[in-house]
Amino acid sequence: MHIQENISLKQFNTFGIDVNASLFASVSSIDGLTEVITAKTNKELLVLGGGSNMLLTQDQDKMVIHVNIKGINIVKEDANTALVEVKAGENWHDFVLWCLNNDYGGLENLALIPGNVGTAPIQNIGAYGVELKDNFVSCNAINIKTLEHTNYTKEDCNFGYRNSIFKQEAKGKYIITSVLFKLTKKEHKLHTNYGAIQAELIKNGVTHPTIQDVSKAVIAIRTSKLPNPKEIGNSGSFFKNPIISKSQFDKLKDNFEEIPSYTVSQDSIKVPAGWLIEKAGFKGKRFGDCGVHKNQALVLVNYGNARGEDILKLSKLIQNTILRLFGISIEAEVNIL
Ligand code: EPU
Repeated sequence: MHIQENISLKQFNTFGIDVNASLFASVSSIDGLTEVITAKTNKELLVLGGGSNMLLTQDQDKMVIHVNIKGINIVKEDANTALVEVKAGENWHDFVLWCLNNDYGGLENLALIPGNVGTAPIQNIGAYGVELKDNFVSCNAINIKTLEHTNYTKEDCNFGYRNSIFKQEAKGKYIITSVLFKLTKKEHKLHTNYGAIQAELIKNGVTHPTIQDVSKAVIAIRTSKLPNPKEIGNSGSFFKNPIISKSQFDKLKDNFEEIPSYTVSQDSIKVPAGWLIEKAGFKGKRFGDCGVHKNQALVLVNYGNARGEDILKLSKLIQNTILRLFGISIEAEVNIL
């Protein structure tokens, strides 16, 4: 185990924020992880996966653990399905590509989502009509206090929209070490209902799509709308899409006839925060080194040397403006640290 002192976290968070960790260790095995957890550093632990869902607003006087445990194993397969165990430190998109290369279906709509496999269940990552939970079987996690290894089934995880037990009662108590997925080997169930996917497939002249075609479409859509964190620092959607009551939505609709929406239940409606932010005039606006992305208003960006505090300040300005204009509170999706 090698614990380093005063390490910059710039390359470990996709926003590219330059703050320091008092203590830092990168671990590539469960034993290494256990050693760091039990090292008597007297510091609170902060677990980093791909660093794709956090805004660092200050130096972290913590023991930062970079989970870098790798490996993909086919645990069991039959003619139709494969159970695949993936270690937490695998890059999410690389794993999706591995699935596509092996013709394993299920995750193709989730291509290009930044981050690692081990952090994907925490917020039940989702895009283009598919969520992680749709192919999730279980995950292994280590209890930070007792060092006990627990297997969490899908039911245990209590998945919801960008939500799971790991954001609720289990928050900060466990480190996910591996995830088990159930994938299809044939008769793949495609999800092409999301409007933009259909349009992209038609554009590509595809009439009988394969999982590779669907993924290609998703990659094209994401590339056109979402900034690549390697080029412009960002954390994907900064806010969650708010869910409001049907009566509040009906009133909004009287004023904004074109407002997009998705029905969640009989009396609740999800509204795209990106639309609200665009309508409020923020899309493409730059404030010093931070701003709102020009192609997707839900994404806040770091053009170079923005500080976490600057981005936080901008996010608050957006939240207050949306509340004033539409009477809707929008909640940050990223963890603010
Ligand atoms: N919209 C605007 N202006 C914008 C952005 C969106 O008017 O600047 C409108 C669009 O025209 C569309 C609607 O809002 O009518 C929905 O837009 P989009 O399809 O881009 O999806 P989203 O609801 O804004 C969510 C996820 C994304 C995911 C996409 C596609 C959340 C918080 N975000 O965005 O996830 O890729 O759907 O499924 O649910 C992420 O979590 O980091 C992420 C990028």
